[in-house]
Order: sequence, then structure tokens, then C-alpha cells
Amino acid sequence: SVIVLDFGGQYNQLIARRVRECNVYCEVKPYTMSLEEIKKINPKGIIFTGGPNSVYDEKSPHYDKAIFELGIPILGICYGSQLMAWSLGGTVETAPTSEYGHTEVEVDTEDTLFEGVSKTTVCWMSHTDYIAKAPQGFRVTAHTPVCPVAAMSCPERKLYATQFHPEVMHTAEGMKMLSNFVYKVCGCHGDWKMSSFVETTIAQLRERIGNGKVLCALSGGVDSSVAAVLLSKAIGKQLTCVFVDHGLLRKNEGDEVEAVFGPNGSYELNFIRVNAQQRYYEKLKGVTEPEAKRMIIGEEFIRVFEEEARKIGAVDYLVQGTIYPDVIESGLGKSAVIKSHHNVGGLPDVVDFKEIVEPLRMLFKDEVRKVGLELGIPDYLVYRQPFPGPGLGIRIIGEVTEEKVKIVQEADYIYREEIAKAGLDKGLGQYFAALTNMRSVGVMGDFRTYDYAIALRAVNTSDFMTADAAQLPWEVLGKVTNRIVNEVKGVNRVMYDCTGKPPATIEFE
Ligand code: XMP
Repeated sequence: SVIVLDFGGQYNQLIARRVRECNVYCEVKPYTMSLEEIKKINPKGIIFTGGPNSVYDEKSPHYDKAIFELGIPILGICYGSQLMAWSLGGTVETAPTSEYGHTEVEVDTEDTLFEGVSKTTVCWMSHTDYIAKAPQGFRVTAHTPVCPVAAMSCPERKLYATQFHPEVMHTAEGMKMLSNFVYKVCGCHGDWKMSSFVETTIAQLRERIGNGKVLCALSGGVDSSVAAVLLSKAIGKQLTCVFVDHGLLRKNEGDEVEAVFGPNGSYELNFIRVNAQQRYYEKLKGVTEPEAKRMIIGEEFIRVFEEEARKIGAVDYLVQGTIYPDVIESGLGKSAVIKSHHNVGGLPDVVDFKEIVEPLRMLFKDEVRKVGLELGIPDYLVYRQPFPGPGLGIRIIGEVTEEKVKIVQEADYIYREEIAKAGLDKGLGQYFAALTNMRSVGVMGDFRTYDYAIALRAVNTSDFMTADAAQLPWEVLGKVTNRIVNEVKGVNRVMYDCTGKPPATIEFE
């Protein structure tokens, strides 16, 4: 395996992920990991990440120089490259001109790291310090007009460094450089696959948990489903999954989750479905303010789960489907804080357990999907679009009632069906129907109607932080509109939301 030693850079997990894309197993470790521990892991290569500090500042993260004597290949990136230079006697200074963004770099294609790379190649730079002078024994292997040492190497000691970031997409030939490092310098074979991750994780979970009892809050979303199946394969009936149907799920969703995970499903586990629909509708009566609804839905989830957990009694482990983007790095790789998901936030307080298990903690979403497919989880669960914890509760503007839930469920179902028929489903970030709180006058047959308006939304986004309204074909929108006003009682008007985020958000509330 290769390890990424984290010095607080923003891209540390991305580096690990790029190495895994080379079919080489890779994990991120904090820079506080001791040399002894690294020796025990005996990795085939080590990558030092970037970081926000200056190496010549005493308080900055440093590492025992003996690491360079282990004979293990090391690639330093950005701060990591400066650390290598500084530790081995080179000079690191504040650059007279800092470089940010796309930068043309001249590389030495004779260097192993740059084999097969174009002589002038676009790289992503982001630095204020630079290596002014490479340490003795090092050759400069890349430069820019303002950066004398954009890369350096000492092949005899298998030490390589780049000032730029080969792991980000903006470095056009970065994957080539990383694969040169892992294959040609470290001698990795590239035979690791997601199936090995699955096997190893299952084996590790089995060993860690032993005869312990494990509890999992299953939402039916990709992350909790994949986590639950990994656990089920590891320890079978020692796992209990609690699935809360809050009555704010999409049409048929509760039954679909039960079909996969319930007693007639494909996995060995105890499945508890709690039908709490009426409880939620009761609590939400008369509440119109979005944040108040969110609070009630979140709080009620905790109460329902608490009751179930009490019936089950003490457990040894609580499973969480935390994935990497949910993990907020502290900046220096020492500890990480979990984002409080609406779905699971607060659970640790009401469950009597010893430890949390997070088998997906180091994976990105698309890697979680690969694991899901590897585990044989049905496609429609693996490729499910994101669905918020508060569910349809925040897609019904104003007060939530059972009747409104039915309306939005039916409209959303039709919308999703037509999007899929038109082959547009895989290309969109998120798409759904919402029930506006607006009624308007219409005419049906010869009668006046006074019914609700449904809003359709579809967005393209890569990170859900910003989004553009998708330009759906008019024929598809027309077909959906026609079907909704004809098939869904209580709706006489359909609108399409053309707003991006910002200024709107993806959800309506
Ligand atoms: P917004 O509406 O903030 O949505 O643009 C961004 C992404 O987050 C999802 N979302 C939520 N997910 N609990 C969740 O678990 C919530 O309260 C919540 N609100 C929004 C939304 O579906 C979109 O993918």
C-alpha cells in the first residue's frame, strides 16, 4: 500500500483517492503517526501532502528526518515538497511572486516522475513559499519563470517532490505523474480493486466486532445501505437495522427499503421498520416555518429511535454511514469532526453503545457506489439521488398534512418516471417535485377549479453548493405537466423552477 501523510492540506483525501484510481491501496494518516508505526505498516510509498504553513516556522508540522532514510520512496507535494527540501538542507523562502492557479511548467521528461508527460504542461499551483534551492544530491526537474524548483528529485534515494498539485484535475497530466510514482518509483503492481476493499473491510469488521451487538439507523440512502450491507456480510444477525418511516418518504420508498432489507430481502440481519407516519403528521400539524419543521422532524426521529434502542438494550457498536465529504478536517490532520447529519445527528446521545463504526469514512460518494455495486445492492438504491433527511417535509411549503404528502408523492413519482423514460435521470444532479402553498383558479371540463400548483425542479451540480437549473426538453416538461394535472387530484397547475443556487437553494425550504 501507499500512505498519504497529512500535513493539513485541503486535497489529502483526493491524493489517496487518485492513488486508489491507480488500483493501489491508499489511506491517509496524520503526520503525528510515529516513525515506528510507519515502519510497521511498511508501505511501498509515502506521499507528503500540502499544508497551509511555512516550514521555517517552528510551530509548523515537521517530521523526523529519519523518514528519508527508510529507503521507502517519498513524493512531497506543495508543503510536502518544501518540507523535504528544508529537512534535507535546501532553502525554502517566501516567493517574490506567489503563483495561484493554472501555470505552464517546463518539466524534464527524462525524470521518472515525468515520463510520458509533455515538456510544457499545465499544472495547478497554489503557494506563497517556494524552494529557492534544492538540497544537495537533488536535481531540479521542473520550473516556471517565477518558480526555480517546481519539481526536484533524487532518484538514488527515491525522493521526489512537486511544488504543484498533481492530484487535482486542473493539473492536466497529474494522473500520469502519480501513476509514474506508484508504479515506476514504488514498484506497486496496481492489482488492488474495490472488491479487495470490500473483502478487507468485512474481515476487519468481523475481527473488531467479534461477538458484539451492532445497531444501525438505516435510511435507505446509499451510504447507510452500503454500511449496513458491509456489516451484515461481516456479522449477520448480530446486526440490527432500524428503519424509521416518517411518512415523508417518496412514493413506495418505505416498501422498497423493506423489500431489500426486510425478512424477505437478500441480507442476513434483523430489520425493524417503525411506521411512525401518524406521529410525525400529528407533530407537524399547524407548523409552517421551515426551520421549525426541520427541528420537529429531526427531534422526532431521535425520539422514535430512542424508543427502539431502549427495546433492543445496550449494544456494543453504533454504525454510521459517514463518508469522506461528511468529515470536516481540522486542518492539521489530528482529528476530524463529524458533520451532524439530519438523519443521524443526536443518535449517539440516546443509544447505549461503546464505540462508533464508520466503515465508509475514507471513501468519496462514487467510491461508495462502487462498493455498493460490488456488494450486489440493487442499482436503484446505489444510484439514488440525494434525498434530504426531513424528506418531503421540506418539499411541501407551509403546513404538512397527509393529503399534501400524497399529492407531492404522486406528482414526484410521475416526474421521476418521465425523466427516466427520457433517459435524463443519470445526467441530472437532483430533480424532484414540490408542492407550493399556492392555490389558483383553473378550469377542468366546464368547471372552475381552485387547486394547488406543483413546482418541478431539476438542477445540475457537482458539489450541491452551487447549482444551475437544468434546461429540460420542453416535450418532457409538457408530458409531465399533462400527466400531473390529469392524474393527481388537487393539482391544476405545474411550474418549472428556473432559478440557480445561489440565489435560490436546491430545496424549497
Ligand atoms: P440546499 O437546499 O441547501 O440543498 O441547496 C443542498 C443539498 O442538501 C440537501 N439538503 C438536506 N439534506 N437534511 C439533509 O439531510 C436537510 O435538512 C437538508 N436540506 C437540504 C438537498 O437535498 C441537496 O442535496
